[in-house]
Amino acid sequence: MTPSALRAFLALLLFTVMFQSEAARKGNNRTLNSAKPALLQLSDYLLTHYRKGVRPVQDWRRTTNVAIDVMVYAILSVDEKNQVLTTYIWYRQHWIDEFLRWNPEDFDNITQMSLPTDSIWVPDILINEFVDVGKSPDIPYVYVRYHGEVQNLKPIQVVTACSLDIYNFPFDVQNCSLTFTSWLHNIRDINLSLWRQPELVKFDKSVFMNQGEWELLYVLSQFREFSVEGSDSYAEMKFYVRPLPWSGM
Ligand SMILES: *[C@@H]1O[C@H](CO)[C@@H](O)[C@H](O)[C@H]1NC(C)=O
Ligand SMILES: *[C@@H]1O[C@H](CO)[C@@H](O)[C@H](O)[C@H]1NC(C)=O
Ligand SMILES: *[C@@H]1O[C@H](CO)[C@@H](O)[C@H](O)[C@H]1NC(C)=O
Ligand SMILES: *[C@@H]1O[C@H](CO)[C@@H](O)[C@H](O)[C@H]1NC(C)=O
Repeated sequence: MTPSALRAFLALLLFTVMFQSEAARKGNNRTLNSAKPALLQLSDYLLTHYRKGVRPVQDWRRTTNVAIDVMVYAILSVDEKNQVLTTYIWYRQHWIDEFLRWNPEDFDNITQMSLPTDSIWVPDILINEFVDVGKSPDIPYVYVRYHGEVQNLKPIQVVTACSLDIYNFPFDVQNCSLTFTSWLHNIRDINLSLWRQPELVKFDKSVFMNQGEWELLYVLSQFREFSVEGSDSYAEMKFYVRPLPWSGM
């Protein structure tokens, strides 16, 4: 080898070593496999070792806070004989899932993606006054944001018991509550809060279909912590729905 060929060889060797160490340094940086769609890679990354049976917190002492919201879409019937109110609501809830987090830069800048509802943990929140499971469509997906916030939206036909004032029926404003609570989990495991400010919930008729016999006066919300006979404490969020007979204006 001539000295100049040797120099060229050494330069090439040095370049290769530098390039490789640079590649190794970037090793922690997940590089996207361009043959596979980014959404698919992200879905695999999040769900491959996911265990949906376990409340998604790193530290079991941490409470999962579920923020909930109700928008009344329609008041379908106010049945004073059976003391039942049927409404159609847009229900939504969000919480943090500490196991559904990613760095957007590693996944083609994806900041939010939808995942099948039945492949992840969801809170067991029910409405206490339910007397009948109405016809509610099944919503197969939730939205997950990169910092772990899961948004779960669903329309629900709510058939609930309500003690309706029958003396002046149907001329009185009625007062029916929808009480949301986790059926099993105590307040240290699942707590509830409002998604929006109470004033925004109260007078929001943006989705209300004003075409039946009933008008919506307002929706009052109230958080309460309750316990059953010296046992554990539970969180509940009440929404008081105040229907009044449509006067026709
Ligand atoms: C990961 O790689 C991307 C694209 O090459 C780059 O923009 C980003 O800064 C890298 N992140 C880190 C932590 O090196
Ligand atoms: C991701 O977003 C950053 C900041 O907006 C931008 O600089 C970068 O080019 C984007 N990367 C891709 C792959 O779109
Ligand atoms: C509706 O009923 C609940 C429970 O009976 C009561 O606490 C609440 O004050 C009532 N709301 C109004 C505006 O009367
Ligand atoms: C539960 O959440 C409410 C707010 O909705 C808060 O005032 C209360 O302190 C929380 N309770 C516990 C035990 O975390």
